[in-house]
Amino acid sequence: MQRIMITGGAGFVGSHLCDRLLKDGHDILCVDNFFTGSKVNVSHFFNNSHFELMRHDVTFPLYVEVDQIYNLACPASPVHYQYDPVQTTKTSVHGAINMLGLAKRLKARIFQASTSEVYGDPEVHPQPESYWGRVNPIGPRSCYDEGKRCAETLFFDYHRQHNLDVKVVRIFNTYGPRMHPNDGRVVSNFIVQALKGEDITIYGTGQQTRSFCYVDDMVEGFVRMMATERGFTGPVNLGNPGEFTMLELAEKVLMLVGSKSKLVFMPLPVDDPKQRQPDITLAKAKLDWTPKVNLEDGLKETVHYFRTLLST
Ligand SMILES: NC(=O)c1ccc[n+]([C@@H]2O[C@H](COP(=O)([O-])OP(=O)(O)OC[C@H]3O[C@@H](n4cnc5c(N)ncnc54)[C@H](O)[C@@H]3O)[C@@H](O)[C@H]2O)c1
Repeated sequence: MQRIMITGGAGFVGSHLCDRLLKDGHDILCVDNFFTGSKVNVSHFFNNSHFELMRHDVTFPLYVEVDQIYNLACPASPVHYQYDPVQTTKTSVHGAINMLGLAKRLKARIFQASTSEVYGDPEVHPQPESYWGRVNPIGPRSCYDEGKRCAETLFFDYHRQHNLDVKVVRIFNTYGPRMHPNDGRVVSNFIVQALKGEDITIYGTGQQTRSFCYVDDMVEGFVRMMATERGFTGPVNLGNPGEFTMLELAEKVLMLVGSKSKLVFMPLPVDDPKQRQPDITLAKAKLDWTPKVNLEDGLKETVHYFRTLLST
């Protein structure tokens, strides 16, 4: 049994990581400022003596005693990270400095939830970890993309300079129950619009592609990464390589919801990447990991979650 801290643990992915690590028999300290996360996401643990919830903003230092740290704190969807872009950069950069400082003092293993956004709008497809990316440093998405890139820099400098035991994964689009209903991400958008019988908003022509990983597969990848030998730092891409156009996704959602919503087309947002697909060769080799849940099964679970949420 380990004492494990999860920053951003009351968020979408973080709460599933709490589920998994508690099930594996660990003690969990969930740290969150509830900017996009919610107590409801973790309220099913409130009677569990192995679970502790702390309201804290990671841009401020934190002194606790734990064996491992998963650093997930950061709003992940454009509507939320662009709401207060300065705070977004602070969360990634000051948050990383504070958590790395804590890990250094504790000699604890520390995990960083980085992102495929470090590749920007890529010229290489699919993206291997060796690709350095094509990121606009001054656009509306930069607070997130550059914040996460700087956090990676800090993780690798703490590793080289202080011999810190770091693990970095780059997460590609992940979906599942407990996504925020108003976060503007394509899966939750389409499902909520379809359930409410509203028009489905497609940006651009709908021919741009994304790959979608179900949250249980993602969490399995996290746990495997954290269990790798000391010295293996990553970065490792985690995501589902199955590629779908936005039109294909919309059709699947309409079919699963049984909705008659119409598709409406809107202009593409600034710096929206046209294609994003992970090269997961490294994850397969080092973690023996591949996603297991297909899009249809994952969408069914997610539709069920949103149907219940909207009816309460
Ligand atoms: N879901 C995805 O598709 C995806 C893709 C790439 C990377 N990621 C990364 O994974 C992590 C989790 O993402 P998610 O989808 O669960 O998003 P989320 O917004 O649901 O979770 C982020 C959590 O961090 C908390 N948080 C934000 N700022 C904080 C701060 N200053 N101090 C403490 N807590 C703070 C939020 O309240 C929330 O609970 C993020 O770091 C995100 O960048 C997610």
